[in-house]
Amino acid sequence: MSGSGRGRRHAGGGRGKASGPGASGRGKTRRMKSAKGRSLSSARWLERQLADPYVAEARARGYRSRAAFKLLQMDDRFRFLSRGARVADLGAAPGGWVQVALERCGPKGRVVALDLVEMAPLEGAEILTGDFREARVQERARAALGGPADVVLSDMAPPASGHARSDHLRVMALAEAAFGFAEEALRPGGTLVVKGLQGGTEGELLSRLKRAFAKVRHVKPKASRPDSAELYLVATGFRGGAGRAR
Ligand SMILES: C[S@@+](CC[C@H](N)C(=O)[O-])C[C@H]1O[C@@H](n2cnc3c(N)ncnc32)[C@H](O)[C@@H]1O
Repeated sequence: MSGSGRGRRHAGGGRGKASGPGASGRGKTRRMKSAKGRSLSSARWLERQLADPYVAEARARGYRSRAAFKLLQMDDRFRFLSRGARVADLGAAPGGWVQVALERCGPKGRVVALDLVEMAPLEGAEILTGDFREARVQERARAALGGPADVVLSDMAPPASGHARSDHLRVMALAEAAFGFAEEALRPGGTLVVKGLQGGTEGELLSRLKRAFAKVRHVKPKASRPDSAELYLVATGFRGGAGRAR
């Protein structure tokens, strides 16, 4: 799990100097004192969390997850979160990306956050609970946007199974579903940022995105753990359906 405060791992994984632990110099590492009474995997997870400067920085800056830094770093580079933007955040819990979207889009923006699990409220965001794979849940998200989205974000990932091939297929199925949603929800010129997991089938999604968007980049933000197969596709300049070919 990429959250700073929860023990579940998921498959895969201001602007400028605001996007990393170096920014405040608080990224000190700490060592776990004892793993007594814990399973080996949860002890390893805890040790990694304590040694991770992004976890410490997320806590220091009030972000609900270290994942917030991934979005900050991608937006610092591509600038898709603008003041007043209408944003859908799919797979949003515990809410780090939502916090970043709220900060960057400001009070005139609209942020709709959806997750399978319940999320604590965040002022200014519309939070929906449901399984994104269900059509009626997608319909609720589209209605909550209240108009065409400027940006669709998807960090959706099921809990890691430990089986790389299954994790890859499940994450890519969610990524495909996010793309399908974006095709219906985005305004022409809009942006889709979607999490993928390397493992063989990501090329198919990439080809489809290339037809639907003017530009598509593979991005591995610094905050994405180097040992994870996670990557993000940042697709900008939605063609508005003209490039659709399934
Ligand atoms: C890596 S976490 C997202 C972290 C988030 N971006 C943040 O900044 O805090 C992935 C999320 O995807 C959600 N998820 C997985 N499958 C889903 C589905 N079918 N529908 C909705 N959410 C889903 C999980 O519940 C989990 O909260």
